[in-house]
Amino acid sequence: MTESSRSQSRSREWFEAGDLDGLGHRSTFRMQGFPEESFTGRPVIGIIDSWSEVVGCNAHLRELAEHVKRGVLRAGGFPVEVPVISLGEPVMKPTTMLYRNLMAMAVEELIRANPLDGVVLLAGCDKTIPAALMGAASVDIPSIMVTGGPMLNGRWRDEQIGACTDCWRLHDELRAGRIDDDDWRQVELGMCRSVGHCSPMGTASTMACMAEALGIAPGGSAAIPAVDARRRQVAERAGVQAVDLVAAGVRPSDILTRHAFENAIRALHAIGGSTNAVIHLIAIAGRVGVDVPLDLFDDLSATTPLLANVKPSGAYLMEDLFYAGGLPAILDQVRDLLHLEVPTVTGPTLGESLEGATIRDPRVIRTRERPLRDGGSLVVLRGNLCPDGAVLKRSAATEALLQHEGRAVVFRSVEELHDTIDDPALDITRDDILVLQNGGPVGAPGMPETGHLPIPARLLREGVTDMVRISDARMSGTGFGTVVLHIAPEAAIGGPLAFVRTGDRIRLDTAARRLDLLVSDDELAARRDAWVPRPPSSTRGYRSLYERTVMQADRGCDLDFLVGWSPPLGAGRTHG
Ligand code: FES
Repeated sequence: MTESSRSQSRSREWFEAGDLDGLGHRSTFRMQGFPEESFTGRPVIGIIDSWSEVVGCNAHLRELAEHVKRGVLRAGGFPVEVPVISLGEPVMKPTTMLYRNLMAMAVEELIRANPLDGVVLLAGCDKTIPAALMGAASVDIPSIMVTGGPMLNGRWRDEQIGACTDCWRLHDELRAGRIDDDDWRQVELGMCRSVGHCSPMGTASTMACMAEALGIAPGGSAAIPAVDARRRQVAERAGVQAVDLVAAGVRPSDILTRHAFENAIRALHAIGGSTNAVIHLIAIAGRVGVDVPLDLFDDLSATTPLLANVKPSGAYLMEDLFYAGGLPAILDQVRDLLHLEVPTVTGPTLGESLEGATIRDPRVIRTRERPLRDGGSLVVLRGNLCPDGAVLKRSAATEALLQHEGRAVVFRSVEELHDTIDDPALDITRDDILVLQNGGPVGAPGMPETGHLPIPARLLREGVTDMVRISDARMSGTGFGTVVLHIAPEAAIGGPLAFVRTGDRIRLDTAARRLDLLVSDDELAARRDAWVPRPPSSTRGYRSLYERTVMQADRGCDLDFLVGWSPPLGAGRTHG
């Protein structure tokens, strides 16, 4: 049997059986009004849809699914919409990252267990994109992703504002008393003007670019605004392409190769992408058996220029990036750094797909000759405080703080941080280093985006705009500042971060890629001996499973038993 016929034979196994099971399988579709010839003898394409009304970023995906269906039908396939759980970044508590792996499991098992020959993945918000890719990669049937696209640019007064880079900045202005409650309400009204994911180069925008750079999403699709008709056209074409992928037997493992991941990491640095993409790319790679070590991000960063002038590393938003030429125009500038021969889901190689790419607005996309930064927009740190690594987004940091030694001011939990950070009695100066413990994958749990520790209101009023902040937590991709994240191993499992005390000295040496606690080895050993781990936050349900099996940030925070892939099921027998 050829690869192609094997792919198409999945749905046949369900629909061509003459027994009781076959009757049940066909009846499921007949009862919806589909005659047998509409779903037999043609590839069945599942539209894996993370639409939800509690996820504004994905709220238009059902409509997008209708356009995918047109394409599948046009190409001779049978489309079926398969809803999956969805994860809404600002709404879901304690953090969507706790549930990324749960969604990945749902996507994987729904694909594995149903009569699908290929899938179109619809996802938009931060975690839904990596979760869908992780799940599909672990089943490895033909797959193409269509992301939801960014919301329209926000507007407040005469300023262009983006959720949520400007939320952070303007919230600090509110806390410092420089804007009032009415201003804050007007900010809220003008911030999110349409459905679609956050408009800066946050995690969702970054992951949409990663899907495109990996070759699993159509070229040029990442930056198209959510409500632009051209995104619907991309969706219809993706329906056609899904049928073509089934016919050709092209699977995610053919696309998601080591070279594809290296291209994506190059793209990550060229766009000034979210630190969260480091975790997600490692996790996706783990599903297809590709080794992407943390240090690879630092190695490729050094020689990749930052070209996208998009917040939080720059001045513009995703809608502007689309008009300026989108990701293809950026990749075209760094062709010599890419593996151009890799295939993409739409047919051409990456190099071929970049033909005709051009910069239409050099203010938004810089040329290779005039980059925002020559290289090193994201660095990986090591040291006695982070033996398994930590990440710093240098392009969003304050240059003067990249080499810094200061006194630690420690918060043992997110709750303690919020209870005390604005206490006028807090003993803190602008030269101190804010340290958050227990914000990691196990500690919080779920590794929330609390690594962007707020600057104390008293210091804000004195005009302080940035301080060195370190934690085992994550930061929103829209966040900025001199923020060291993803410290591994985390405090909750006894990593060195657990032993830092207020008053200790810490040295950040970005040039040497070091983060060190300036405490003697003997003292550290004594603190380790005296350390008592906290009990798990839950003893039942998914949360308990998560806490027992989640891996550290340098391993992508996947659950240890989900790494790798296993084949899709055949029809089997439900009845005796
Ligand atoms: Fe969904 Fe920001 S809230 S991408």
